[in-house]
Amino acid sequence: MIDLAFSILAADFANLGEEIATAERAGGTVCHVDVMDGHFVPNITFGPPVVAAVRRCTNLPLDVHLMIEDPDRYIPDFAKAGADWVIVHQEVCRHLHRTLSQIREHGMQPAVVINPATPVETLIEVLPIVHHVLVMTVNPGFGGQSFIPRCVEKVRHLASLREEMNLNFRIEVDGGIAVDTVGEVVRAGADLLVAGSAIFAGPGNQAQTAKNAEEFLRVARSAGELTA
Ligand code: DX5
Ligand code: ZN
Repeated sequence: MIDLAFSILAADFANLGEEIATAERAGGTVCHVDVMDGHFVPNITFGPPVVAAVRRCTNLPLDVHLMIEDPDRYIPDFAKAGADWVIVHQEVCRHLHRTLSQIREHGMQPAVVINPATPVETLIEVLPIVHHVLVMTVNPGFGGQSFIPRCVEKVRHLASLREEMNLNFRIEVDGGIAVDTVGEVVRAGADLLVAGSAIFAGPGNQAQTAKNAEEFLRVARSAGELTA
């Protein structure tokens, strides 16, 4: 199963409801929400009130990527806002197992993410309790950056650990994922594909956004069939 997790960071914020509806109608199956605090990453985006507004626009799973310091403080707020899946950065969690457990205790699915410079080995002890692992394929903070090819090896490594450890967490990728890079990550074992600038075509451009999503899924699925 291949999921397109469209990232609303690249959407037209003035028409967020319509943008989400377009991506969903074109085959998007997960709504990825990038929360940035201006500390862990140099950019600031949105918080729980926007997640709550997005919740009213769609029934798709909300995949909330927390690029913030001290995520523990905000877990109850994101639960109340209607997040389904919450992703925390390994780099900011001193007690990663506890943070992930708390996400689950609040009724959401826990996930963990690593930056390009963070090795997969740092996650081995929490793999049995996560819903998915996100491998950043750019340094977090901005949309529209170039894919870092070296990160593909980490996807492959996670896929082999999953088999060895007899687990079933999913593998997600985020950053620079587009028609020219998606085949490679799918063949390496990723099946939750975050894409922002490759999908959203800009204000008033719903038809092109829909085409982008359809073409993205076509390329991703054909890579998936070759792998299976
Ligand atoms: C970057 C965010 C991404 C971003 C991806 O820090 O985590 O989700 O929206 O954007 P693209 O797909 O444009 O690289
Ligand atoms: Zn993200």
